[in-house]
Amino acid sequence: MQLAFIGIGNVGLALAHNLQQKGHEIIVAHDNPDSSSVTKALQHNPAFEVLPLQQAIDLSEVIFLATPFTLNASILEPLHFKGKVLIDCTNPVGPGISHGLESTISGAEKVQEWAPNAKVVKAYTIYGHENLSNPKFPDYLVRPVMLIAGNDSGAKTTVARLNDDLGFETLDTGDLSQALHLEHMTLLWVKMVRANGHHPHFTWAYLERS
Ligand SMILES: NC(=O)c1ccc[n+]([C@@H]2O[C@H](COP(=O)([O-])OP(=O)(O)OC[C@H]3O[C@@H](n4cnc5c(N)ncnc54)[C@H](OP(=O)(O)O)[C@@H]3O)[C@@H](O)[C@H]2O)c1
Repeated sequence: MQLAFIGIGNVGLALAHNLQQKGHEIIVAHDNPDSSSVTKALQHNPAFEVLPLQQAIDLSEVIFLATPFTLNASILEPLHFKGKVLIDCTNPVGPGISHGLESTISGAEKVQEWAPNAKVVKAYTIYGHENLSNPKFPDYLVRPVMLIAGNDSGAKTTVARLNDDLGFETLDTGDLSQALHLEHMTLLWVKMVRANGHHPHFTWAYLERS
């Protein structure tokens, strides 16, 4: 699948490299091909192509957003997504690892407001980047779970296929408003690992008994 990445830092590079290794074609969407993160990404994986933002979106089936949340409005509002899947990997984080929008609305719903013609799916935020490049846990019979949320079932099916390639089971938590709860899960993970010193290579699993 042709995939575009807006943001190729810690999160974007981990996902893009993993997916490129599984046979997907990656376009780094950046208007400055000489930016430091683009240069680093190309050194890490020379198979990536770099194109200006709108051109990268036009050529791709799915677009990943992995940018600082505070930049999202200015990045997204000039762009045209034409009904394509936009995966929101960003987190609004406020002072003291609080929710950056004071838990009044999810960041993903704001992303949908700023990109009204995209099919927004929230994913890849409940763990740190350490678990996105290689989510393999060979000592366990189950794979780690990736919780997603979105309003379009077809878009979520597409994300589930990408999850499978990356190495995650998918748990569809419901419509995009559920992203608020996923963003709180992010804060839980961040507080445990970044503030309290828990090991970063831990994930959650989904077990269901019928
Ligand atoms: N770090 C984690 O473990 C983690 C885990 C899950 C989710 N998140 C969330 O994911 C997002 C990214 O985090 P990160 O740690 O990957 O950040 P990061 O390493 O700082 O990367 C940010 C990326 O956004 C790019 N960018 C900024 N403005 C841009 C623009 N106008 N057009 C195109 N690209 C632009 C940057 O490019 P330049 O080189 O030009 O600045 C860089 O590639 C954040 O919202 C964060 O909260 C982080």
